[in-house]
Amino acid sequence: MIELEKNYIPVVWVTGATKGIGLAIANAFAVIGCKVILSGRNRSQLEINAGKIIDQGGYALPLFCDVTSETGVRAVMATITKKLGAVDVLVNNAGVTVFESFEKTTVKEFDQIVDTNLRGYFLCTKAVLTSMLKQKKGHIFNIHSVSAITTFNNSAAYSASKAGALALSKGLRGEVRKKGIRVIDVLPGAVETEMWGKPIRKKYHSKMLQPEDIADAIVSLYCQPQRMTTDEIVLRPVEGDL
Ligand SMILES: NC(=O)c1ccc[n+]([C@@H]2O[C@H](COP(=O)([O-])OP(=O)(O)OC[C@H]3O[C@@H](n4cnc5c(N)ncnc54)[C@H](OP(=O)(O)O)[C@@H]3O)[C@@H](O)[C@H]2O)c1
Repeated sequence: MIELEKNYIPVVWVTGATKGIGLAIANAFAVIGCKVILSGRNRSQLEINAGKIIDQGGYALPLFCDVTSETGVRAVMATITKKLGAVDVLVNNAGVTVFESFEKTTVKEFDQIVDTNLRGYFLCTKAVLTSMLKQKKGHIFNIHSVSAITTFNNSAAYSASKAGALALSKGLRGEVRKKGIRVIDVLPGAVETEMWGKPIRKKYHSKMLQPEDIADAIVSLYCQPQRMTTDEIVLRPVEGDL
């Protein structure tokens, strides 16, 4: 069992915590005793997820937040600050995709993917950065994808958004690593979540990672010795990509 620093309860904000990898990450941080903010767009699901954490003795705050909305992200940050103070850990996880050829990808789909996966990470990071710099500490986990470093057919917009977010993150890390802030890039391969259609999940169930695998890895990275950080980690199914 991982133990936290004595007499300090970290505040962890996970975006896209209604389901999938984000929910698993929120649960994993709650289990080790952190105060967890679960954000996303499905209010009732957030309430249910937070309720389960609270029922098990943990602390959870469900907050509506569409990461594509600058004013929405600012408002959420104001609520968090008022209720819990500074954020110690941000997990940029909210993400979307379409499995579509370049030709068939619409401008609306492209905009939604880039607004969520790239601009959303920028907005949420900006929201926490000033107070992290003030505190001279903080963790920012960015959930990218192996698609940031490998391209797959029918995923060009997704790959572009993830590669952009990875570059954004690397740029940020260079600026803040000497100021006590750890920016950790997580690149998972295929994980069994609703991001994939049912037939794919059924076909590749035994090969795919589970959301809890990613969550456990992230909590372990959070609990690394003070003198150490992991800049980038690739987490793939044993057999590789699907
Ligand atoms: N599954 C994989 O194989 C895989 C592999 C590598 C990386 N990833 C990445 O892992 C992250 C989580 O994906 P997942 O597989 O867990 O997918 P998922 O089950 O579809 O969950 C996506 C989450 O993102 C939230 N979300 C989407 N758009 C949002 C927005 N505009 N504002 C706020 N929240 C939003 C969704 O919540 P609401 O719809 O309720 O808002 C949901 O909680 C994504 O960044 C994805 O790219 C996934």
